[in-house]
Amino acid sequence: MNDEYILEVNNLKQHFPIRTGFFQRVTGHIKAVDGVSFAVKRNEVLGLVGESGCGKTTVGRTVLRLYDPTAGDIWYRTERGERINVATLKARDIKPLRREMRMIFQDPFSSLNPRRTVKDLIGEPLLIHGIAKGKAMEERVAALMTEVGLDPNYMERYPHEFSGGQRQRIGIARTLSLSPRLIIADEPVSALDVSVQAQVLNLLQGLKDELGLTLIFIAHDLSVVEHISDRIAVMYVGKIVEMSPSEELLRHPLHPYAEALVSAVPPADPDIKTQRIILEGDVPSPANPPSGCVFHPRCRYANQSTCVEVEPVLEEIEPDHFVACHLARELHLAGIGG
Ligand SMILES: Nc1ncnc2c1ncn2[C@@H]1O[C@H](COP(=O)(O)OP(=O)(O)O)[C@@H](O)[C@H]1O
Ligand SMILES: [Mg+2]
Repeated sequence: MNDEYILEVNNLKQHFPIRTGFFQRVTGHIKAVDGVSFAVKRNEVLGLVGESGCGKTTVGRTVLRLYDPTAGDIWYRTERGERINVATLKARDIKPLRREMRMIFQDPFSSLNPRRTVKDLIGEPLLIHGIAKGKAMEERVAALMTEVGLDPNYMERYPHEFSGGQRQRIGIARTLSLSPRLIIADEPVSALDVSVQAQVLNLLQGLKDELGLTLIFIAHDLSVVEHISDRIAVMYVGKIVEMSPSEELLRHPLHPYAEALVSAVPPADPDIKTQRIILEGDVPSPANPPSGCVFHPRCRYANQSTCVEVEPVLEEIEPDHFVACHLARELHLAGIGG
């Protein structure tokens, strides 16, 4: 059973030190990720959602060891079937993994070097990893451009000659160039116009079906990930508060925070009226999180001292449906379609 998991993250923590004063003494920690566990199966898309500041990007960057984790394990099954803990790998052992695990970044403007042609940008990973050069590289670049819906005749052009959506396609082609086994897409459409978002999402959906991508898809908006994701994990202040198959989460959220996110998803049928739940206030600072359940100050159901005093743990309340809420068994929260 475990064999089918390509990634298993256990109790991952990323605490950034806060340094103050002349001597830069550590006076506290920003607990950006504070005990996160999840697993991703081969050819599965896991959506990771939550408002800005919840720790999504930090999870992605830590899993790829762009940051060293404070604690926790990141078990990854390599192409050769080995199970390795990325969390404890030595720097020189990480480089070969960069080929298998790759990231698509949010901002297609700053993530592409403006002085390189599209051919260089997409071909560079092939050169670095010694996979193709010269004519072979050019052919591969042309095939990748076609794959993501770009005209290969434009490979000698520079990023500024393309629109935002096309630039994100270049970023996706660059990520795909090494045929990675695991992709972490960090808000890949958030910087794009709404009309272009749908096109890039459709592209990713098509690539997922065609290439069988294994993807962690990060977004602050549930409506962006709901169609592409097989399962969705909802993050709040450094923790996963709910995780389940996508449809289940949308129809039947068990955490009040997830209920609020679901209420913001526009219904497919415009005749269905939904009651949008507006969350008061902001995401609390992970440097100084609230006591008990971190969501209690914004929760409209929190009514007992337990919510304020006791931290809830993530529990499997229904098969494959995990939630961290003291009231999860009592509440009947609204999802989409009832
Ligand atoms: N390199 C860093 N150093 C210190 N704090 C950071 C760093 N990166 C992120 N943070 C903080 O960690 C929290 C989570 O950030 P992030 O992972 O970017 O959230 P998200 O991607 O969900 O918006 C935020 O409070 C952010 O300010
Ligand atoms: Mg982010």
